Amino acid sequence: MADQTQSSEQKRPIIFSAMQPSSELTLGNYVGALKHWVELQATYDCVYCVVDEHAVTIHPEPAKLRKQTLDLAAMYVASGIDPEQSVIFVQSHVPAHAQLAWVLGTFTPMGEASKMTQYKEKSDKHGANVGLFTYPVLQAADILLYQANLVPVGEDQKQHLELSRNLAERFNHHYSDTFTVPEPHIPKVGARVMSLQEPEKKMSKSDENSNATIFLADTPDDIRRKIKRAVTDSGSEIRYGADRPAIANLLELYHIASGEAIGAIEERFVGKGYGDFKAELAEVLIAMLSPIRERYMQIRNDKATLNDILKKGAFEANRRANRTLRKVYKKIGLVELE
Ligand code: TYM
Repeated sequence: MADQTQSSEQKRPIIFSAMQPSSELTLGNYVGALKHWVELQATYDCVYCVVDEHAVTIHPEPAKLRKQTLDLAAMYVASGIDPEQSVIFVQSHVPAHAQLAWVLGTFTPMGEASKMTQYKEKSDKHGANVGLFTYPVLQAADILLYQANLVPVGEDQKQHLELSRNLAERFNHHYSDTFTVPEPHIPKVGARVMSLQEPEKKMSKSDENSNATIFLADTPDDIRRKIKRAVTDSGSEIRYGADRPAIANLLELYHIASGEAIGAIEERFVGKGYGDFKAELAEVLIAMLSPIRERYMQIRNDKATLNDILKKGAFEANRRANRTLRKVYKKIGLVELE
């Protein structure tokens, strides 16, 4: 059994990715990352994590964090992550993440950590703490523990991925080859889904305007209402362009949900107005999201199954992570007991 797992791991390149259980998942999370995680399962050995230790950097209410951690794990499964095929687990169930982060912190110059834009944004909003500052180092530990080749993320994670690559290269150079240097996998379309209310801002879980964000658990009526209220650009043409950020965002969403090329969508709506376009957009989004929402409600209500999935995931993740951590400890000179 163990041999079988090892040989399948060796055959297929490894994927690692994660999301924070900091609120309900948004359409941005799905389109920028989760949708690709599902597709990549066919060719890669995938490890997907719910990063609760990252989420505690801004001190969420404990009961809410516990709930959202399970919500997020259920949403992974509902979206199509297959627990028989991929590893699904919660970060705090694998102590090696915090352990490796400590070691990697010693390889992170203060200047490099200070440059991280998400740290600056979050510390402006929540007040600076050391956990927020070292957050990207923990993220590097997440990825490097699993020897990931590829990390599917949205555009906003690019800088953190660069730090993970630097840390892997620096450690490998200082000692000897230990970590796989991970490549980011950022989709060409949908890597930055924008707010429906302020199309110059990315769609975010924490937006105070509830009309700005579509959540994966939104009902069809919520989706219709939010798309109807989405801001548009001046003029009335359904045309893609950098000078038309609101419509460009909606056209990208239409393309992703329906699979139809952007040019073909533009053509179909020549002479028609925003109202027609938005009504159809809402329906293609509902068709994409409704099956996920229905499966989510089933899985989330089956606590025993969800618990079993996470237990199995934690076991496998610990096995893989400890293998890397042991190597690291040995290389840096920590004593291993006989
Ligand atoms: P998080 O939880 O903020 O977001 C999860 C994923 O969703 C993507 N995303 C978006 N993509 C397109 N458009 C948007 N509007 C949008 N909003 C979010 C993000 O790029 C991300 O891929 N630090 C990470 C979590 C993390 C992680 C990791 C990721 C911790 N360790 C290791 C990868 C590998 C974060 O806060 O993502």
